Amino acid sequence: MTEPLIRNISDTALWVAMYRAWESDQKNPVFRDPYARRLAGKRGEEIMSTIKAAQRHAWSYTARTYNVDSFVMQEVENGADMVVDLAAGLDTRAYRMKLPSSLQWIEIDLPDLLSYKRDILANEKPVCRLERIPLDLANPAARRGIFEELGRAAKRAIIISEGLIVYLTAEEVCALARDLATPPSFQRWATDLVSPGLLKMLQKQIGKPLGQAGAPLKFAPEEGPAFFTKCGWTPIEVRSMLQAAAKLKRLPLLFRLFALFPDTKGTKPKQIWGGVVLLGKQSTAR
Ligand SMILES: C[S@@+](CC[C@H](N)C(=O)[O-])C[C@H]1O[C@@H](n2cnc3c(N)ncnc32)[C@H](O)[C@@H]1O
Repeated sequence: MTEPLIRNISDTALWVAMYRAWESDQKNPVFRDPYARRLAGKRGEEIMSTIKAAQRHAWSYTARTYNVDSFVMQEVENGADMVVDLAAGLDTRAYRMKLPSSLQWIEIDLPDLLSYKRDILANEKPVCRLERIPLDLANPAARRGIFEELGRAAKRAIIISEGLIVYLTAEEVCALARDLATPPSFQRWATDLVSPGLLKMLQKQIGKPLGQAGAPLKFAPEEGPAFFTKCGWTPIEVRSMLQAAAKLKRLPLLFRLFALFPDTKGTKPKQIWGGVVLLGKQSTAR
């Protein structure tokens, strides 16, 4: 029996790192991630060359990265002293972004993924105070303990998550959201989100290898970002991938027409939509 291309959920991090490697290779890259190709490795390249549909999605990952980068910068400028990078995967923002050296950057992911990353980046220097915490986020007691500890260490923290909640059920997302809402210093959360229409499309295009790896795509709430209001968080701002990619001149021809029209009404997305939502904790969100 040969090994599957995507062995488990952590291999999706290799896949996403390849998108960052591609963007970094562009003539005028939106961001430069000099570690992405090394981190993606041979398996990342194989995943990308085998799953043809995945290659067409590159623009949306550039837009997603850009949207999260800009929310991080905005919140750091607003006084955030900690970034909690949930399911950080092979994200290298703590190395590649212009961040204050005093900023505490916390990467949380599964143990094997974090040790793979630590080995590859062993000789690189982060720009801020980086700590890696191996943790299974599916373990509620363990994650609550870590969130409480981090919450005590920060004055004002922003949580970021990309490519995490789409793999969870609505109940799991809400439970995680409530746990994130508990520490008083956890004030903001930037997360990616897809609409039910986009979820269906993604399931059709790239769902099979993910399902076979035990990581089916699941979460796309009908109500869009408003989903989080029952779980302790209020949407503050929504930035769509389509609009960001149009602004960054990364949209393929076919999509440019769609980008001429707004793809959200307030914070309510249209049928096929993917974006990054900035959430504020209910007691503090303005
Ligand atoms: C699609 S990747 C995204 C990685 C990174 N956020 C990015 O955008 O490059 C999904 C990540 O979620 C992590 N992950 C999935 N389930 C997890 C869990 N229960 N606890 C911790 N990390 C988890 C995987 O190991 C993987 O690194």
